[in-house]
Amino acid sequence: MAGVAVPSSKGGGYVPTGKEKLNPMVYITAMTAALAGLLFGLDIGVIAGALDFIGHEFTVSDSTKELIVSALLIGAVIGTFCSGPISRKFGRRKAILLSGAIFVIGSIGCGLAHNPEILIFFRGFLGVAVGIASFTAPLYLSEMAPMQIRGRLIAMYQLMITIGIVLAFVSDTILSYGGHWRIMLAIVAVPAAMMAIGVYFLPESPRWLALAGFKEQAMNVLRKLRSSEEEVKWELGEIENSVVDPEKTKKVIANPNFKKALILGICLQAIQQFTGINVVMYYAPQIFKAAGFDTNQEQMFATIIVGVVNVLATFIAIAFVDKLGRKPILYIGHIVMGLSMGILGLLFFHGMSSTGMQYSAVGMVIIFIIGFAMSAGPIIWIICSEIYPLAARDFGITASTASNWFCNAIVGMTFLTMLNGIGPASTFGLYAVMNIAFMIFYFYFTPETKDISLEEIEENLLKGAKMKEIGTRTRIPRENIAGNEAQA
Ligand code: BGC
Repeated sequence: MAGVAVPSSKGGGYVPTGKEKLNPMVYITAMTAALAGLLFGLDIGVIAGALDFIGHEFTVSDSTKELIVSALLIGAVIGTFCSGPISRKFGRRKAILLSGAIFVIGSIGCGLAHNPEILIFFRGFLGVAVGIASFTAPLYLSEMAPMQIRGRLIAMYQLMITIGIVLAFVSDTILSYGGHWRIMLAIVAVPAAMMAIGVYFLPESPRWLALAGFKEQAMNVLRKLRSSEEEVKWELGEIENSVVDPEKTKKVIANPNFKKALILGICLQAIQQFTGINVVMYYAPQIFKAAGFDTNQEQMFATIIVGVVNVLATFIAIAFVDKLGRKPILYIGHIVMGLSMGILGLLFFHGMSSTGMQYSAVGMVIIFIIGFAMSAGPIIWIICSEIYPLAARDFGITASTASNWFCNAIVGMTFLTMLNGIGPASTFGLYAVMNIAFMIFYFYFTPETKDISLEEIEENLLKGAKMKEIGTRTRIPRENIAGNEAQA
């Protein structure tokens, strides 16, 4: 992420140990900014329960339903591209505020839509907010966070996404009794307004302030967020050292080694989407319907279980990502996802003739979710925030985040067509094969980025190391690290 303070011996000899007391203000700030993750999740989850009712009210085809789902994702691609310039020119805080305002208007617009075209338009508009928030909030978080909890805060952001999804599923279920799809969509305006009000009171990112030349203000913000004056001075020194001139950014972007990192990030985010996660997130009730659960309430209940498991399994990643490393967890996750999708395909192939088979289908969807939430869910976002050189980090993250939304749209736009065209057995079979095949990509091209500072990754990358090896320590062997990169 941009603006990450990296340890050095500059700054009057003071070097943080990574064990500094944390100022509680950091958590308040982080929680408020992470509300953007919650909204991201709410908007992803909310459509699952509303889609069937919308389909009935407007009598639309499957391809129009796919458009209603995917308009948000196309909007998110556009939002991601706009967010770099907006957050650079006006600041991170104002960019999040803008996304809050768009969230409020977009949600109400969706709830009031009186034909599919208007609904599609407002879903697209809402998507712009999702795109801005999904770029700016993690950036803001990483710029506010003391380095010892930076990774954890990004994983927490993913946690908020999953909580948003489950809250949307619960609210959809409650409202599904009366078929109130309009309220399902419009109610998202409430947390959006809460976020906007909260963010209004947050300080601007100290790194952005320093970039924009407001050194005094940057220092004042750091005083609110850090526990000692020494830390404040050290960090400001680091920020000033890392403030890059536009010429350096151009040079890095033109560097062929940076292009390799860019391609890696774009591919990793594409892989995350082609695991098929959002097939489940958007269409879970439809999958359960195909598996023989007839009533809307049964389908929604099973969907809520999926959402809760998604939240809980994210804790597995939070607990192990810095201990086991990124790659081992990715392998385990993909094996779990590949097997569960494969078995789901087989179940559909044999036909859901008994209740036992129906429950097994729900079980496989749940196991699939565990595989995703413990691995590719948080870890792809983490790796993508680690592999880009600081000078071009904004650019790299924009490209990989846009790839995430773009591929998300492809999955959203093709799933129902595939389900009706080649049938559920082949559709899930295909996702199973892809999940296993992606492990080959990890093996050959993905670096392990545990226990290494962002600076060293950058150094390895720019001097031409193979992508797989940019996370390999050359300055200090991994074994000699006492679990604290600050001392590296
Ligand atoms: C993905 C989203 C997905 C969510 C599910 C995120 O990491 O980018 O597309 O819906 O996880 O929890």
